Amino acid sequence: IMIQKVDHIGIALHSLDEAIPFYEKALGLTCDRIEEVEPQKVKTAFFAAGEVHIELLEPTAEASPIAKFLAKNGPGIHHVALGTDDILGQLAQASDAGVRLIHEEPIVGAGGKHVAFLHPKDTFGVLTEFCSGGDH
Ligand code: CO
Repeated sequence: IMIQKVDHIGIALHSLDEAIPFYEKALGLTCDRIEEVEPQKVKTAFFAAGEVHIELLEPTAEASPIAKFLAKNGPGIHHVALGTDDILGQLAQASDAGVRLIHEEPIVGAGGKHVAFLHPKDTFGVLTEFCSGGDH
């Protein structure tokens, strides 16, 4: 089996500073780390919810994909990330099945993970990420 679990759920929002207290105080989760991912123009905060993480995403520039998502949809669920030990195999399988890939090759995301996204028009509206490796 190549997909091992839902690794994390990405949530787009305007301000980590405003959102983190909700996750900490209202939900009782702990923020593992805050990390800026410069190439993707986002600042991320990770919370462990059991095995699955919640990834909060704040745009750091107008050109950020997250800024565009927020302008169009407002805050909310942005993507579902599936953890795999074979990201290239997953991409090839999806591509062979006729799914368009946003990333033909994995890029480096938060936590040093390799990540790649499928086109949401081919995934029934759910932006789907494959991720592997990294430090959690
Ligand atoms: Co993600």
